[in-house]
Amino acid sequence: MTDRVKIFDTTLRDGEQALPASLTVKEKLQIALALERLGVDIIEAGFPVSSPGDFKSVQTIAREVKNATVCGLSRAVMQDIDACGEALKVAERFRIHTFIATSDIHVGAKLRKSQDEVLEMAVAAVRHARRYTDDVEFSCEDAGRTNIDYLCRMVESAIHAGATTVNIPDTVGYTIPSEFGAIIQTLFNRVPNIDQATISVHCHNDLGLAVANSVAAVQAGARQIECTINGIGERAGNCSLEEVAMILKTREAMLGLSTGIKSQEIFRTSKLVSQICNMPVQSNKAIVGANAFSHSSGIHQDGILKAQNTYEIMTPESVGINKNHLNLTSRSGRHVIKHRMHELGYKNEDYDLDTLYQAFLKLADKKGQVFDYDLEALVFFDQQKQQQAYYELLYLHANAGKGMIPSATVKMRMGDDEGTASAIGNGPVDAAFNAIIQVTGNDEVDIVDFKLDSKGEGADALAQVSVIAEYKGRRFNGIGLATDIVEAGVKALIYVLNNTCLADQIDEKKQQKIAGV
Ligand code: KIV
Ligand code: ZN
Repeated sequence: MTDRVKIFDTTLRDGEQALPASLTVKEKLQIALALERLGVDIIEAGFPVSSPGDFKSVQTIAREVKNATVCGLSRAVMQDIDACGEALKVAERFRIHTFIATSDIHVGAKLRKSQDEVLEMAVAAVRHARRYTDDVEFSCEDAGRTNIDYLCRMVESAIHAGATTVNIPDTVGYTIPSEFGAIIQTLFNRVPNIDQATISVHCHNDLGLAVANSVAAVQAGARQIECTINGIGERAGNCSLEEVAMILKTREAMLGLSTGIKSQEIFRTSKLVSQICNMPVQSNKAIVGANAFSHSSGIHQDGILKAQNTYEIMTPESVGINKNHLNLTSRSGRHVIKHRMHELGYKNEDYDLDTLYQAFLKLADKKGQVFDYDLEALVFFDQQKQQQAYYELLYLHANAGKGMIPSATVKMRMGDDEGTASAIGNGPVDAAFNAIIQVTGNDEVDIVDFKLDSKGEGADALAQVSVIAEYKGRRFNGIGLATDIVEAGVKALIYVLNNTCLADQIDEKKQQKIAGV
């Protein structure tokens, strides 16, 4: 019999807070539904008090997710806890996660309080959260650098006040595995009521040890791991979900531990998060990197062909990588696309086959061969299009060349109106952007970053442009994909404009609520 370790995913909270621009409600919901399908136990959906957008995301996820507990974060402050309770009350199952720092440096320099005052705040916060739910998690921020006597006192008091999970974060990624494992072991030896709560760990990766520290902690008795997809998060990131889940699965016999993660969903979830967050995965990343299952040396290739386990400790299929590639061209029929989407793990209801097939044919005409990542990108961008339809590009023409002034003309749909504008710029993308700003009349959007990547290989690869823009003091992220760089850039900008519209709508509703309209 193995012992079950709960997987607490914080991609949408700790992961998201490290992105250069925040995600929209729809994007967060898309990720939450993928996490639910992946089989995580708890989804930390956000920090409701931090902004109206975050409140709305947590509430939407709480309403839609049925097979995981939805959690919201709060400082040990009553107003934060109330915001969590309000956002989460629509959920089938929810958890309030409240935290306060416990290390000397945080207690003294940041909170400027005594240890006793901080302990009282923690106890009051847990008690307040228990008014909303009996599933309350308490975290001792910077536990990895906290005096062990104080940490034991804090854990005991939080459990006594009603915390059902107590989380021990290595907030700054400072500890090493033997040391972190020993902290957990000491808590089990010294805290008298420790059997009344689940002990959780939350490790950051500043020294590249987040996964190793989490494994050491579960070996010492912790039964919840907090982690993120692709390890995204503050600075060097958080413990990577896919790595820790595959360690527990691959070494189950040795560790005697298991999780509820459906490992075949890992690759797809990783790609979705990478795409939506615009955070590429390094090619040699364990489990989900492009090279994680590639064998280059002749000796290794020979060995693999004779017996897969000569050089592979787990199969690519076990994490959802299907190596069987059919050549998809404009001659491929709808049933081939449907079959391929099924192999990639998409259900019929995840996409519209007619729309996808039309987009596929157009792309196949331009590119010749269409690959899996193209299909997934088409689905992804179709979903974005359906969700954000206020601005739409109807026509684009751009001119550039040596000795000529770059110019562009765009025609756009804006709600029920249409408009056309032409502009010049220092290149065709700049000219097209100027034309869009002119036709939409939206000059409050300030572009602070423009990045161009290629999706796929060779000169016919798709261009992916990501744009980060500032609008009313907030940052928005937009991604555009096309065979043409100017069109990809324009799509990215329109994506940003649509996101700003959604944010305005959310702010407006919040203001109306405050004004009691
Ligand atoms: O790293 C950390 O300490 C955190 C807490 C809020 C759990 O993210
Ligand atoms: Zn953290």
